[in-house]
Amino acid sequence: MLKYTVISGSHRKVSQSAKIAKVVEKLILKENPSDDVGVIELANNPLPLWDEGVFHKDAKWTALWTPYSEALKASDAIVVVSPEWGGMVPPGLKNFFLLCGNLELGHKPGLIITVSAATGGAYPVAELRMGSYKNNHFCYIPDHVIVRNANNILNDLDNPTADDDRIRVRISYSLAVLKEYAMALRAVRNSPVINFKDFANGM
Ligand SMILES: Cc1cc2nc3c(=O)[nH]c(=O)nc-3n(C[C@H](O)[C@H](O)[C@H](O)COP(=O)(O)O)c2cc1C
Repeated sequence: MLKYTVISGSHRKVSQSAKIAKVVEKLILKENPSDDVGVIELANNPLPLWDEGVFHKDAKWTALWTPYSEALKASDAIVVVSPEWGGMVPPGLKNFFLLCGNLELGHKPGLIITVSAATGGAYPVAELRMGSYKNNHFCYIPDHVIVRNANNILNDLDNPTADDDRIRVRISYSLAVLKEYAMALRAVRNSPVINFKDFANGM
């Protein structure tokens, strides 16, 4: 059995990213009914901006972060759903990655799915691949998905359009690849080579 966490990175109360995160949850469970999937929603900014209290393990941060931390620590694979906002990843999602450490994400596979109402979506892929893994050792798999024209896509899984089918097949394939990495990277995490004590941060 595998445990997945799907992160919806939009701050909006109602967002296309949250819609896609729920589709991902459904597709994982359809293929793997015995697996466990949790969804973390960053709607309405549930976490404040990082401050020094994180380093000092302030009670405020322990209370806020522990539920997210525990869910991620128990996960074998993570799906990151990010909208493109101003050609960027939303700041709340970047803030979330600042809070994540090796125990939450280290040597775990991640699938990036970006979401655009128009024809964007490439910038957040590049930004996540460049800037969200160094100190937590998150491993993005080579495949990613860009959901364009998001308002008109994947609104009714039971009555799919041709466009729905095209992107659903791509998401399902990427999830199948993610699963293979999830099983394979367990061996990496259990390897005696991994040393988060002396090499906690990447260069
Ligand atoms: C602040 C803001 C900036 C945005 N900038 C972009 C952009 O640069 N490129 C783009 O394709 N869409 C942009 N959009 C539109 C999003 O693609 C659209 O909201 C889509 O539904 C994904 O975001 P959501 O998950 O928040 O709904 C922006 C939306 C917001 C709220």
